[in-house]
Amino acid sequence: MAREFTSIGVVGLGTMGAGIVEVLARNGLDVVAVEVTDAALDRGRGHLTGSTDRAVARGKLSEADRDALLGRVTFAVGLDSLADVDLVIEAVPEHLDLKQRIFADLDKVCKPAAILATNTSSLSVTEISVATTRPDQVVGMHFFNPAPIMKLVEIVKSVVTAPDVVADVEALCARLGKVDVTINDRAGFIANALLFGYLNHAVTMVEGHYATREDIDAAMKLGCGLPMGPLALMDLIGLDTAYEILDTMYRRGGRDRRHAPAPLLKQMVTAGLLGRKSGRGFYTYEKPGSPVVIADELTPAATDPAATTADIHRKIRKVGVIGSGTMAAGILEVLARGGYDVVSITRGAERSARLAESVRTSLTKAVIRGKLEESERDAALERVNWSAALDDLADVDLVIEAVVEELSVKTALFSSLDEICKPGTILATTTSSLPVIECAMATGRPADIIGLHFFNPAPVMGLVEVVHTIRTSPETVATARALVESLGKHSVVCADRAGFVVNALLFPYLNDAVRMVEASYSSADDIDYAMKLGCGYPMGPFELLDVIGLDVSLAIQRELYLEMREPGFAPAPLLEQLVTAGYLGKKVGRGFRDYR
Ligand SMILES: NC(=O)c1ccc[n+]([C@@H]2O[C@H](COP(=O)([O-])OP(=O)(O)OC[C@H]3O[C@@H](n4cnc5c(N)ncnc54)[C@H](O)[C@@H]3O)[C@@H](O)[C@H]2O)c1
Repeated sequence: MAREFTSIGVVGLGTMGAGIVEVLARNGLDVVAVEVTDAALDRGRGHLTGSTDRAVARGKLSEADRDALLGRVTFAVGLDSLADVDLVIEAVPEHLDLKQRIFADLDKVCKPAAILATNTSSLSVTEISVATTRPDQVVGMHFFNPAPIMKLVEIVKSVVTAPDVVADVEALCARLGKVDVTINDRAGFIANALLFGYLNHAVTMVEGHYATREDIDAAMKLGCGLPMGPLALMDLIGLDTAYEILDTMYRRGGRDRRHAPAPLLKQMVTAGLLGRKSGRGFYTYEKPGSPVVIADELTPAATDPAATTADIHRKIRKVGVIGSGTMAAGILEVLARGGYDVVSITRGAERSARLAESVRTSLTKAVIRGKLEESERDAALERVNWSAALDDLADVDLVIEAVVEELSVKTALFSSLDEICKPGTILATTTSSLPVIECAMATGRPADIIGLHFFNPAPVMGLVEVVHTIRTSPETVATARALVESLGKHSVVCADRAGFVVNALLFPYLNDAVRMVEASYSSADDIDYAMKLGCGYPMGPFELLDVIGLDVSLAIQRELYLEMREPGFAPAPLLEQLVTAGYLGKKVGRGFRDYR
């Protein structure tokens, strides 16, 4: 029989502690909430009342329930008031010496049977536990931010944690409506070990002016369906906390350079830019603690969308699309629906006929789903000219090529286009991994060459990465961006580096997940759970790998590794083996999971 917890102490009422108090009190538990000073206690109480008031305003909590919830919480300064609780959850800043001191004190104050839990994200639960005389009753309870919303709790057991303590804490999580995964004591556990390399990488992108904060965040939201971009998430976590987590993971997790905190983070923390809690981090907030972003000096000036669309239609009327695969079909459908005249070029009449059929089918589906009028479908199809002769591109204003992902094929094509197309025509490649500059230098007009990286399926995905080389003119970038916006899609601008924004941030994370399974730290199922329930990702990494295809993922990861030479980017041997074995994912019925 699991032990019954009636009263629980929470130490530290910051970002996490206040949220944990709310979760406990909401589920009928008495809570003793402890801070270090009266001022900190008032702040902590403010977090709790602010959050519960918002829940009332949104109709998620009745006023009576809020009052009952708050009535279950006793606030106190100092640890002495924790003498009678059954469990303490510690959520003070991420410093080992501070946590060890607090656990030594808790050990003295709390009754012998009490369980002592830490919410640490990266420190060793074992090292914290040995500061007490009851290390077998010490456990990690890693909640996710915001604690009242995120469903996951990682329960971390050390080698000496008693099995009944783990079982009791698991039962408590179930009572709180949380889903737990129980794991051993390793830096970053599951979710943070996979998350923080990615977050730190995004910070280095801002630091290196590779792309703007808005573009990086939009890329990950629209390209991967994440609930927040990495920089907004850093602000939510708190930059001081994020710094400490990275620093600990670097030291405990094998000195992986990807976890060495980006220098910019240290500067921001020193300058007091801690994220939402201080009112300013990567973004600026209405006031400290507020989730509302306000404009600052880095906010891009708003453009008038109506004017942009009119301007771009004056400048770009006719677009060539080369290729007959999935991407070419999607892109020409999007362009034709967007009102552009399109010249489709394939390698023969038969291919053109098949392509025309697939575009018609796709548009008809949109009609059936009520997204398009029949007349609009017919008008869109009328706008496309089907051809097998590159010479038909002589008078187009823009060409987008979506042919096979082979550099020699693309450079030869760009060289021909340079001869055929009128001066001023912009030539774009949809490559997802090859250097755009190679295409540019195959022509005599490198200022007019750009990457337009659409996502699959192009008619559905709202993102296009606009990739400029060191030779692309600002005018070409502006035109490409306006074209993308006129198609109702969001453009993010980035420099010409392997993986651009989305793939460079996504694939190393997927590769790390494979390494975690390879190291037998956790299972594919638990990792998928952790990322979905702890971080709100729409799919876990293994679900996603199976959908993308393991061969495609391996190829992208290889490109990233070859260009960056970052040891942490080396493809996981397990990924290579699965590809060799022909387990390529859903498309063949078997990848990380068996679909047959
Ligand atoms: N921020 C996140 O997204 C997140 C997510 C999961 C876990 N965590 C972990 O939770 C813990 C707390 O992080 P946070 O982001 O809430 O930090 P925070 O800085 O927002 O809050 C820490 C609180 O602890 C209080 N405190 C400091 N010393 C104390 C003491 N001796 N006694 C009582 N209270 C004391 C501070 O006054 C502050 O209110 C860390 O271990 C962190 O790694 C954070």
